Amino acid sequence: MTQHIGVMVTGGIAAYKVPLLIRSLIRGGAEVRVAMTQAAEAFVTAATLATVSKHSVLTDAREFAEPAHVAHVALAHWMDQAVVVPATANTIAKLAAGLADNVVTTTLLAFGGQKLLVPAMNDQMWVNPQTQANVAHLRDMGWQVLPPATGFLAEGYAAVGRMPDLPVIEAFIATAQPEPFLAGQTVLITAGGTRERLDPVRYIGNDSSGKMGTALANVAAAAGAQVTLVTTGDQPVLPGVTVISVTTAQAMQTAVQAAFAAADVVIMAAAVADYRPKYTATQKLKKTGDAGLTLELVQNPDILAGLGATKTHQFVVGFAAETNDVLANATAKLARKHVDMLVANRVGDGHGFNAATNQVTLLTPDQAPVSVPEASKVNVAAAILRHIQQVRA
Ligand code: C5P
Repeated sequence: MTQHIGVMVTGGIAAYKVPLLIRSLIRGGAEVRVAMTQAAEAFVTAATLATVSKHSVLTDAREFAEPAHVAHVALAHWMDQAVVVPATANTIAKLAAGLADNVVTTTLLAFGGQKLLVPAMNDQMWVNPQTQANVAHLRDMGWQVLPPATGFLAEGYAAVGRMPDLPVIEAFIATAQPEPFLAGQTVLITAGGTRERLDPVRYIGNDSSGKMGTALANVAAAAGAQVTLVTTGDQPVLPGVTVISVTTAQAMQTAVQAAFAAADVVIMAAAVADYRPKYTATQKLKKTGDAGLTLELVQNPDILAGLGATKTHQFVVGFAAETNDVLANATAKLARKHVDMLVANRVGDGHGFNAATNQVTLLTPDQAPVSVPEASKVNVAAAILRHIQQVRA
């Protein structure tokens, strides 16, 4: 089912970035309709937003343009999800008070679905206790808030208040959860493919992009967890995710072991190299001629098996990326590694690695396998995390 996103634009300078956000949301498969305040029209035109969203934009001037229906109520009915971006201090105050004096506030007051807030403003306006109290009140009423980033403001200096980068806003919109089902939980996740150095310019690697592990991290954060993501990749993450960047299997093991004791749930989604070169050359290896080159490899530690053998309270989840006999291989791995759940997925031929979607089967020692139908990696991540909670309960 196509997702209907209502983008509510209010009068901050960051509004000039909203057309690009809308274009990405549409490219990702969503349908977008826009409402904007009069103040927003000073920063971006209704014509631009109508052209990129492919629908006419609701402005105060157009509220009664079509007498057949009440425009803000019709928009509220159409939306599955509302995103106020950028949200000014003024609009945040109005929403917290329940005011309805323009097309954005009336539409939102008439809307009962998922509401997301992306504040962006001057740093002093953001840290003002009045603004903070208004944001806290909106959170209490079920709004989900992407806090502003620290960075260069339109005022010409660096401070908190900047609208987060568009990929972070997209991740926030895509991963928003109906309820915080992981509140109070600490989750440790690995992502990406490790790289084992042969020399300063070459490595042994694999095709894992880190998308699945990063989707798990963002969904877990959106569901209220404290998340540590140990990753070889650099995909955008939500503010609740602490990223530890690593390259090799050994560095990943060190980072995972350091975070293991504090974790309630551990998910090893990374594709870890089973072997690494015995020696890493300090200078670029030269051709050896017709004799060829023989590399000596040594085995890497199996990080997951180590966790399975030493876990106390942690719920430990592994991934099994298989090209053939997926379920048989994964079932054997579940027992061999002493883990609580194994996520089996087929890789190769455009499946799994680097793809936008995934199809997995969830194996646990005591329950029948659960098949998760092909879906976006974000939706698969949500299904995995919910199943983990169900098995732990
Ligand atoms: O044995 P195999 O590599 O197929 O197992 C895959 C699972 O084990 C994944 O969860 C992966 O992150 C983990 N793994 C590991 N350390 C390794 C190899 C795999 O933690 N050296």
